[in-house]
Amino acid sequence: MSELRTIAEDGDGVVILDQTRLPAQTAFVRLATLDATARAIRVMQVRGAPLIGATAAYGVALALGEGIALEQAIDVLAATRPTAVNLRWALERMRRVLQTTPGAERCQRAWEEARAIADEDAEANAAIGRNGLPLLQIVEHRPVRVMTHCNAGWLATVAHGTALAPIYAAQAADDEVYVWVSETRPRNQGLLTAWELRQAGIPHALIADNAAGLLIMQGKVDLVIVGADRIAANGDTANKVGTYLKALAAREHGVPFYVAAPVSTVDFACPDGAAIPIEERDAAEFGLASGEQSGDEAGRKVSHGDTPIANPAFDITPAGLITGIITERGILPPTGLAALQR
Ligand code: MRU
Repeated sequence: MSELRTIAEDGDGVVILDQTRLPAQTAFVRLATLDATARAIRVMQVRGAPLIGATAAYGVALALGEGIALEQAIDVLAATRPTAVNLRWALERMRRVLQTTPGAERCQRAWEEARAIADEDAEANAAIGRNGLPLLQIVEHRPVRVMTHCNAGWLATVAHGTALAPIYAAQAADDEVYVWVSETRPRNQGLLTAWELRQAGIPHALIADNAAGLLIMQGKVDLVIVGADRIAANGDTANKVGTYLKALAAREHGVPFYVAAPVSTVDFACPDGAAIPIEERDAAEFGLASGEQSGDEAGRKVSHGDTPIANPAFDITPAGLITGIITERGILPPTGLAALQR
C-alpha cells in the first residue's frame, strides 16, 4: 500500500494538501497558527474524520507555540465541525497529556503527541486494509465490484484511508477491483475518490448519487464500503449524507454493507444515532455545481439566490442495516462495539 500522507511537519508549521482545490489543482498550504488551522478544518481544506482529528492535534501544538492557552486552543478547534468525533477525541487526548505536563515542556510534548496521533492513524488504517481484504477475496468473480460514498480514502485520513484501504490492499495483492464512486453532492467528495483511484490505477466509475439504487438493484455491486464520522455505542453510524439511502438499497437487495473506521471514530459516550449532532453547512456551498469553495470560481450556480436551502452534511445509518464494522482490531458486528472498550 502507498504511504501518501496528507499532513507533514515543516519546521514550526505543518503542510497540508488543500482539498478545496482538488482535483483541479494540487496545491499545498502551510499552517503556522491556530487560526489558520481552525479555518482549514472549517472550510474543508482538510476534511475526513481521521484527518480532522490529526490536524486539530497539530493545531494545539501550533497554538501553544503562539503562547495561546491550552483550553482556549481546544475551544477554538472543537468549534470547527460538530459531527466527526475524531476531532473531539484528538483534542481530549491532547488535553489529557498536556494538562499534566510542566509549562516549559508543553509545546514540545504537544508536537510529540500530535505526531503520535498522526502515526497511529496511518497504522490503524493500514490494519483496516488488511482486515477488510478478506471481504473482497471471498467474492467469487472478478473484478470485485465495490460501491463507496464520499471520500474515505487516504485524503480523508493521515494515510491509507478507511473505506478505500481494503481496496488498496486488494490492489497490492494483485486482485482485480472495480469501484463505483458516488458524486456526493453538494461538496463532491466523490471527485476526490475518483482522483485517488485514477492516481492508483484502480478501475472505477463516477456516478450520480441517485444512480446508486439502480446499480445495486441490477446486481452490479458485490459490497458497499463506506467510512464514518461518528459511530455511536449501539453501532448507529453517521457518515456523509446519502450513506443511509445506499444502506437501505443494499439491505433490500441482499448486498453486504460495511463501515470502515478506526476505533477513534467510535463514540462510546454516545448511546445512539439520535444523539449524534448533524452538521448543517452553509447554503452557499449547495448552490454551486462544482463544489469548489475556494478555487477559481468555476462553479456553476444551480439555484437562485433566494431559493431556501437545507444542507445537512451527514446522515445516520441505523446499526441494523450494517453488516459489519471494519476496524484496526478486526471486523465487528455493529452491536459488538463494547468489546473495543476493553
Ligand atoms: O464532510 P467531510 O468531507 O469531512 O466528510 C467526510 C466523510 O463523511 C467521510 O466518509 C468520513 O469522514 C470517513 S473519512 C475516512
